[in-house]
Amino acid sequence: MIDVIRVAHGVFYVTDLARSKDFYVNLLGLNVLHETPGAVYLRGVEDREWTLKLELAPEAGVKHLAYRVRSEADLEELVRLAERQGLPHRWESELDRPRMLRLQDPFGLPVAFYHESKTHKWLLQDYHVHRGPGLQRIDHVNVMSPDVEGTMNWYLRELGFRLSEYTEGEDGSVWAAWIQRRGGVHDLALTNGVGPRLHHFAYWMPDALSIIRACDILAGARQPERIERGPGRHGISNAFFVYVRDPDGHRIELYTSDYITVDPDFEPIRWMRDDPRRQTLWGAKTPKSWFEEGSLLEAFDGGWVKPREGALQGMPVHVI
Ligand SMILES: [Fe+2]
Repeated sequence: MIDVIRVAHGVFYVTDLARSKDFYVNLLGLNVLHETPGAVYLRGVEDREWTLKLELAPEAGVKHLAYRVRSEADLEELVRLAERQGLPHRWESELDRPRMLRLQDPFGLPVAFYHESKTHKWLLQDYHVHRGPGLQRIDHVNVMSPDVEGTMNWYLRELGFRLSEYTEGEDGSVWAAWIQRRGGVHDLALTNGVGPRLHHFAYWMPDALSIIRACDILAGARQPERIERGPGRHGISNAFFVYVRDPDGHRIELYTSDYITVDPDFEPIRWMRDDPRRQTLWGAKTPKSWFEEGSLLEAFDGGWVKPREGALQGMPVHVI
């Protein structure tokens, strides 16, 4: 079995690098690990590697989402999987990651896998350099998919992901799934919606107060419109959260206080679709934009993966 350790980074295309850098560094407080004229590599204070790359491009979107694997042998096994299933794949490299396998999963998601990476001294206890709300580490990604059940089953079967929570429709269909490799609630969440598109990219926060501080900072900077939803507490995952939108509309979740799923007898938690406590325990309303908008994903040969509606479309979508 291919041994995926965890979700590891995202590469976002942005249309104004200085504007995006101001948002992520000066307001959210992410730390610059490396910079070139066309890109900025960012990390939280616990991240020993860069976890978000902003790359200047004519249009906003997502180049790929990446996972770290246990060994080079896992990469070779991934090549065999891609060949067996006819998935487009090639070797690429990124800063600090000389050997990265990029492939298109069967549902159109651009995903990359790497083992070798240059690591850097973490900043966790360098409290004197922490800024803003103090984003700590990459936590998860959430993808809107027209085929949640099929995508979930592929990641469970082929990549050894484990299910922690899911939402079921009245007819038994899976509307959303939270799946993980790392022992938390999720590395990857899949949500019914027009896709594939990235719904959000999430950072773990030290505590709930740091999330409130992020809201205060955005308000102080006269950019309250960047706060899209929350703060609040999810039913699913039990996490305290806020969702913010970057200058290109990419959605970032600041997230904390979920739970572990490492026990061998852990039972996935099922939620019914009509349970109002799923999205937020407090019952706060969610804006329409949050259900409908997401970031486009780059196609293997360039351009964008064309989002499509799935069998469950035409009914309200639900995302955490
Ligand atoms: Fe999330």
